[in-house]
Amino acid sequence: MSFDYKVADLSLAEAGRHQIRLAEHEMPGLMALREEFGESQPLKGAKIAGSLHMTVQTAVLIETLTALGAEVRWASCNIYSTQDEAAAAVVVGTGTPEAPAGVPVFAWKGETLEEYWDCTEQILTWPNGDGPNMILDDGGDATMLVHKGREWEAAGQVPPTTEEDSEEFGVFKSLVRRTLEADAKKWTKVSEGIKGVTEETTTGVHRLYQLAEAGNLLFPAINVNDSVTKSKFDNKYGCRHSLIDGLNRATDVLIGGKVAVVCGYGDVGKGCAQSLAGQGARVIVTEVDPICALQAAMEGFQVARLEDVVDTADIFITTTGCYDVITAEHMQQMKNKAIVANIGHFDNEIDMAGLAKVPGITKTQIKPQVHEWTFESGSSIIVLSEGRLMNLGNATGHPSFVMSNSFSNQTIAQIELWTKPGEYENKVYVLPKHLDEKVARLHLDALGAKLTELTKGQAEYLGVDVAGPYKPEHYRY
Ligand code: NAI
Repeated sequence: MSFDYKVADLSLAEAGRHQIRLAEHEMPGLMALREEFGESQPLKGAKIAGSLHMTVQTAVLIETLTALGAEVRWASCNIYSTQDEAAAAVVVGTGTPEAPAGVPVFAWKGETLEEYWDCTEQILTWPNGDGPNMILDDGGDATMLVHKGREWEAAGQVPPTTEEDSEEFGVFKSLVRRTLEADAKKWTKVSEGIKGVTEETTTGVHRLYQLAEAGNLLFPAINVNDSVTKSKFDNKYGCRHSLIDGLNRATDVLIGGKVAVVCGYGDVGKGCAQSLAGQGARVIVTEVDPICALQAAMEGFQVARLEDVVDTADIFITTTGCYDVITAEHMQQMKNKAIVANIGHFDNEIDMAGLAKVPGITKTQIKPQVHEWTFESGSSIIVLSEGRLMNLGNATGHPSFVMSNSFSNQTIAQIELWTKPGEYENKVYVLPKHLDEKVARLHLDALGAKLTELTKGQAEYLGVDVAGPYKPEHYRY
C-alpha cells in the first residue's frame, strides 16, 4: 500500500510508538470507545480531514477513529505543535519506515506559514480528485479554508492582499488563489461532500457561531468545546498542567516569588492562574467581563488593568482568544527579561507584528521557540513560541488523561454526525448531556473514583432518572 504523507522523519516512528503505547494506558475513554464500537464500525465510510495538533494524544485519537472504520488524513493546526515522533508513528502504523501502512499525516514541528496552509489543503484533497466527507477541526482553519474558498470561488476572485491583512491571511489568500487557478470549482465540490464538522476549541466554536448566525454555515457542526467534559477539564486542568510545563522547558526561571499577570479569566485563565499560584507566584488577573473579574477576586487574585501593572510583573500570559491584548507599547514598558507568552489559540493576542516594528529592536534566538527581543535602551523581554500557543510550542500540550476526555467527545461527535445524516441542520450543536456524563463515567475507574447511586426515591425527589442526566441544561458546573 503506498500513500502520500509529509512528516519530518519516519525513523522516529519507534520512539513515537512507545509514547503512544503509554498514552493509551492514560486514555481510558478512547480505549473504551474502541472496545464498544470496534466491531460495529460506526465510522465505516467516513473520510475524516483532521486539523488538530499532531501530538502523541492525537495519535491515539486518529487510531481510535480508524479502529471505528474511518479513513483519515491529518494536519496540525499550528506550525509548532507537532510532535515529530507521533507523526512518524501514525504514518508507519503497523508497517515499517520503509513500507509505511498507517495514516497520511502532513505535519512537522516548525512549518512555515506557506507549508502550514499547504498541509491544510492536503487533508482536504483526497486521492483520485476526491474530498473528505467529515472535518475534525481545532480552531477552525480547515473549516475556514472550505468556506472562504467557496465564497471567493462564487465571487469569481480572491480579494487582493492589502496592507491590513496579517502575514498569515496574505499567505492564506495566495493558497486559495492557487487552488482556484488549478480547479475553479474545487471548493464547491469539497464543501458539497462534507456531512459535518466537529470543533475542538473556544476560538473555532466562536467562528462557527458567526458563520451560522450569518446563515453561511455550509454543513452541520458539533461544538465539542462546550461539552462540560471538554472545556471544564481540558481548557482548565490541561492548561494548569501544560502552562507551567511550557514555561519551565522554555526558560527554567523559578516561578515562586514572581509576579505573574494572566490576561483573561475564562476556563484557560482559571487553570493558568491556579498553576502559577501553585508555584508560589503572586498572580494578577486582567478581565473585561465583570463576572469573571469577580470570580478572580474571590479566588484571592488581584484584578488590575494591564497598564497599571505592566512595569512591575515578571511573567505575562494571554488566555483571552481576543487580539492585541498585549501591545508593542506594553512590551516596551516591561521589566528587563520579563517573559511574555500566549496560551490562547491564535498568535494575535500579543502584537508580534508591532513588536518587530519597534525602532532599533533586535531579536536573538536563545533556542527554538524562545527569543529575546532587545529594545534600544538595552532592556529586553523573552517571548515564547513567537506569540503562538506556548504549551504546544514550548512543551507537548496537555497530558493524555485530560485529552482522553476531549477526544472521547470528538469521537462521539463524529459518530453522531456521520451516522445520523439528515437529523442535523446547518447549525451548531452541543452533544446531549447523557453523552457528556458518559465521557466522565469512562474516566472515573482509572482514578479509583466510586460514584454514589441515587435510590429510586431520591431520583424521584430530585426529578431525575436514576441513570441521569443529573442536571438541567442551564446548570453551569
Ligand atoms: P473563555 O471565553 O472561557 O475565556 C476567555 C476570557 O478572556 C473571557 O473571560 C473574556 O472575558 C476574557 N477577555 C477577552 N478579551 C479580553 C481582554 N482584551 N483583556 C482581558 N480579558 C479578556 O475562553 P477559554 O476557553 O478560556 O479559551 C481561551 C483561548 O484559549 C481560546 O483561544 C481557546 O481556543 C484557547 N485554548 C487553548 C488551549 C491550549 O491548549 N493552548 C486549550 C483550550 C483553549
